[in-house]
Amino acid sequence: MPPSSADNQSVRSAHSPFPADFLWGVATAAYQVEGGWQADGKGLSVWDVYTNTDRMAAKGETANVALNMYDRGQYLQDIALLKDLGVNAYRFSLNWPRILPEGTGAPNVAGIAYYRQLIADLKTAGIAPLVTLYHWELPQALAERGGWANREIVGWFRHYAGVVFDALGRDVALFLALNEPSTDLSFAAYAKQFRETPRREWVPLTPLPPAAFTWFPGQRVVHHQQLAAAAAIEEFRKRNLPGRIAAVAMLLIPALPATDSAADAEAARLADGLMNRIYLDPMLKGSYPDDVVAALRGAGVELPVEPGDMEFISQNRADFLGVNFYSGFPFAADPAATDNWGLRMTWSPSPADPYNGPARPDLFTAGLLRLKADYANPPMIVTENGTGVPGDDELVGGHVHDAKRTDYLVSHVAALGEALREGANVEGYFHWSSHDNFEWVAGYGRRFGLIHVDFATQRRMPKHSAFIYRTLIANGGRVPA
Ligand code: NOJ
Repeated sequence: MPPSSADNQSVRSAHSPFPADFLWGVATAAYQVEGGWQADGKGLSVWDVYTNTDRMAAKGETANVALNMYDRGQYLQDIALLKDLGVNAYRFSLNWPRILPEGTGAPNVAGIAYYRQLIADLKTAGIAPLVTLYHWELPQALAERGGWANREIVGWFRHYAGVVFDALGRDVALFLALNEPSTDLSFAAYAKQFRETPRREWVPLTPLPPAAFTWFPGQRVVHHQQLAAAAAIEEFRKRNLPGRIAAVAMLLIPALPATDSAADAEAARLADGLMNRIYLDPMLKGSYPDDVVAALRGAGVELPVEPGDMEFISQNRADFLGVNFYSGFPFAADPAATDNWGLRMTWSPSPADPYNGPARPDLFTAGLLRLKADYANPPMIVTENGTGVPGDDELVGGHVHDAKRTDYLVSHVAALGEALREGANVEGYFHWSSHDNFEWVAGYGRRFGLIHVDFATQRRMPKHSAFIYRTLIANGGRVPA
């Protein structure tokens, strides 16, 4: 990208709420961008199987090649684009079965070498890596042993984390254990349902509701996720590493009452408990919320808490909280929804609506301030925020004028600035995503990138939003008039 006049001015207003050392980044995840699905001894992940065997993603697409970022020649070009964007940080994830092909046992030297080189190349470009250990690439070998439903996963994840910290721990300042654990459970539930559905071709148009809403027994698994994150943190501490670690990148979904009735207020509170507090309370307050425990019990689900577990989680606290924010949703009481906790999400999107919910920057500010008020203002990093809107990403005459993403970006950065002004302890913002990539069950059909990708040719083209992000970064979160 050529330098813009905004960069040349580069005048940071003294009144900007964003400190000079604020992390401005972009985020991706291994399965969505790497490709190289069988390269150099890599094992299979559940997503390799979901796409290749089950053909669960749209049109039978896979991420076998994806953005080809397993190829160093390719990713070096991508790092050059990130440098042009002006970001000082990049969030990506490690592909567990690339490092441990069977999920446990001896590491795959080539897999580790790939990540070591990527980290070195990012740092050479002046871009700090934020490394997610797990962005849903569960080794298939472990899925076949019960995956997250098996308490042994705490030990498996501990071993994996230890291998990673021994290999890369001294080179990375920011680690994160689990990405959106609630969505991971949603997809596991979706995959199960998909396999059992006679017409196996459905892709939901609405956002996937967290498993809390569709998969009662799945809720037990939350406890294993909590323990696994705590075990990773314990391994991290043992090694006296220089960096910091988060337990989760939490999908924060503000739950709003659909009407002002008392029943809907109650429904929204339960929805908040099942989506948000079930993760936040144990790691930040030391216990599961009573109303959620009671609701689970009412559905015949007991969290598998053993003596000492809650102390273990409390003793292994994270250094910061990752927050993924896209939108908030209204909830109504619905006594007929007996398989759905007696509540229902009432947003019914039209085909023109954003994929992950309506733009609600006000809820972004409110959500961060809620974390400040209810959870003693932990150090936070916004690990994802972004949007994809049908029709917004057309490549016309060599340009993509993604006006809706641009508006979303500007308004959400402003909303974050507002939260900072009101004292929220936020250290960074990572836009999802740097590039259009493989959007899980929706395949390549939903674009979230600042950089357009032609998936057939691997050609990259920064969109309008990319230029605006660079301007925001250079000007303390504002677009100069
Ligand atoms: C959250 C997930 O972490 C990421 O993988 C996904 O692509 C984005 N949301 C957009 O839906």
